[in-house]
Amino acid sequence: MQDKQPLLFDIHQENKDANVQELIQGLLCTQAILSPKYFYDELGSVLFDAITLLPEYYPTRTELQIFTHQASEIHAHFPKHATWIDLGAGSCQKAVSLFSSTMPATYVAVDISVEYLTNNLRDLQAKYAAVSVVGIGMDFSNSLTFPAALQEQLTANPILALYLGSSLGNFNPTEAFYFLQRIADLCKTGQPGSGLIIGIDLVKDVDTLERAYADDLGVTAAFNLNVLRRVNSLLGSDFDLLDWQHIARFNVQESRVEMHLQAKRNLVVNWQGHQRHFKKDETIHTENSYKWTVENFSSQLIKSGFSNIRHWTDTKSHYALFWAS
Ligand code: AVJ
Repeated sequence: MQDKQPLLFDIHQENKDANVQELIQGLLCTQAILSPKYFYDELGSVLFDAITLLPEYYPTRTELQIFTHQASEIHAHFPKHATWIDLGAGSCQKAVSLFSSTMPATYVAVDISVEYLTNNLRDLQAKYAAVSVVGIGMDFSNSLTFPAALQEQLTANPILALYLGSSLGNFNPTEAFYFLQRIADLCKTGQPGSGLIIGIDLVKDVDTLERAYADDLGVTAAFNLNVLRRVNSLLGSDFDLLDWQHIARFNVQESRVEMHLQAKRNLVVNWQGHQRHFKKDETIHTENSYKWTVENFSSQLIKSGFSNIRHWTDTKSHYALFWAS
């Protein structure tokens, strides 16, 4: 008999022209900007995985610690026989490590690239024959409309939405509000007991925050600089990585760590008939990573349409896991 295979959907419409337009527009702004979505080419994804192993980068490891130390309390909130929707699933590792305490009926891994998910999901389906494994390639940052073929699974069982790794940090509070509202609406389509488990990085002393984004080995610097190669290949631009230096600073006012690339000298970048002059010390803003307080994030969840909120933190209160239903 043929082994059970995961169900795969690719509804990600990559619009190369729109990406190029967006890149050019960002580079021509007075404060030049690049979207953090361009970090994750093949090398960028490996560099990010390396970041999660750095002693300075506490979020990944702290999230895991909270799950481990408070497992029974956390899992008590997870609905049984549920459809798990793992947003930004990637390697699926984080969600699958939770299977030992609560087994889903259906596991839906959602990420921008279905190719990246496919191999992991085949292995997963072979290992967990009782779980229906589904993979969806889609950009869920602007819409949470799932394929019609999944509607049955979404309405017949409770839904457990997972958004782990403090990925919400890339959204500003307004974007976060709309995103959370869409998840709250999704949970309302599921059977009673549906909810969201989400990892949030908390405000803390500036030194700890900035060191997490400017590590001694320079891995985060490499991750940041690598985006210029990506831009060169997408635009045909002539960024020289040696002209730029990595900067990470906490913007207290906006409650976010900002990453920038700063020009080491006056220079000109050319692409497709355009050019941009950068003065020495001028920057390209490449990422925001918003940090929340427990109070602010709890009220954000309420505003977004959730009514029942719980949270767990580590002993230093560096990071929080929230349950919202
Ligand atoms: C993947 C968005 C959660 O903001 O901490 C890590 C990305 N950038 N180091 C974060 C990142 C630099 C990360 N997120």
